[in-house]
Amino acid sequence: MNHGNGMPGISDTELIRVYEDENLAKIYGKYRLPYCSSVPKEIMQFMREKSPANNQDGRYARMLDVGCGCGTLSTQMFSKYFQSILGVDISEAKIRQAKLLNKSENITFEVIHSHKFPVEDNSIDLITSGTSIHFLDIKEFEKECQRVLKPGGICAAFALNSRRARSINIHENDSSCISLEPMIDQFFVDIEAHPSNFESLDGNRPIFDRIQNPSKRWLKEIVSEKELSLQKIKDTFQTTGEYVMMKKRKLTVDPLEILAQNIEKGLQLDQALVDEDIMLSVELVMSTFVFIKDYLN
Ligand SMILES: C[S@@+](CC[C@H](N)C(=O)[O-])C[C@H]1O[C@@H](n2cnc3c(N)ncnc32)[C@H](O)[C@@H]1O
Repeated sequence: MNHGNGMPGISDTELIRVYEDENLAKIYGKYRLPYCSSVPKEIMQFMREKSPANNQDGRYARMLDVGCGCGTLSTQMFSKYFQSILGVDISEAKIRQAKLLNKSENITFEVIHSHKFPVEDNSIDLITSGTSIHFLDIKEFEKECQRVLKPGGICAAFALNSRRARSINIHENDSSCISLEPMIDQFFVDIEAHPSNFESLDGNRPIFDRIQNPSKRWLKEIVSEKELSLQKIKDTFQTTGEYVMMKKRKLTVDPLEILAQNIEKGLQLDQALVDEDIMLSVELVMSTFVFIKDYLN
């Protein structure tokens, strides 16, 4: 596990216990914001430029999704591009949900207990890691990518973050836009998030810096606007493991309410409105980096 930036927060062991929370696994699948469909498109375009799929049906043979969670987000969006996909996760609760929610015959899921992936050497065309690479030991992960990827195979790590928001429908003359990033950072401080979470909030930039493979590069950043109610934003953030764990203790102040209040204040919204009626246009940013097997020194 990666850790150690000196910030207060939960330990690695506690973090693993968080993943085992059955309720978290359920709400994750229900509330987490999906990635934009351009994410798999960009990754597949990069793959095709490097080596075209050589199966008759135009699909690549095999993909591995590491830290797949409940599978509905980072795994299922790739199903049409591969003959078979394996999603692996350290959490048994998440894998139970993944199997329950799976809609594709060509996807299977498995629990893993270490960075050893349950696949043969040189067998994988694409390894993905959606909002999960920050939890991994990067050295071990890179070593395992080198073992299981086919020569020329690709690893793609992506993360989704909310950058800015403006209100819609409420103050029609007010087009002011606020940065959500400091408010979200504060939420993660308030829930005493594991340090690795802050790396993901930073679009995985510190992780990119630690990747040794010299072929590493960023794909085009994908930016999209999504209309979301304040309630929907709160729903997404309530799927953060440390928040679920904190909620089990008696809270005097709820960090999610603080986040909502900060957004309302920033946009000068009428705090009497119910969260479902507050509509925001949110700028979502998806950052992806890739590297190719056989470039490791
Ligand atoms: C934020 S979730 C992302 C889930 C999914 N990929 C998505 O995009 O929604 C991070 C996932 O990484 C998993 N995880 C954390 N450490 C892991 C490890 N060492 N090996 C495999 N999975 C891990 C967690 O259990 C969790 O399901």
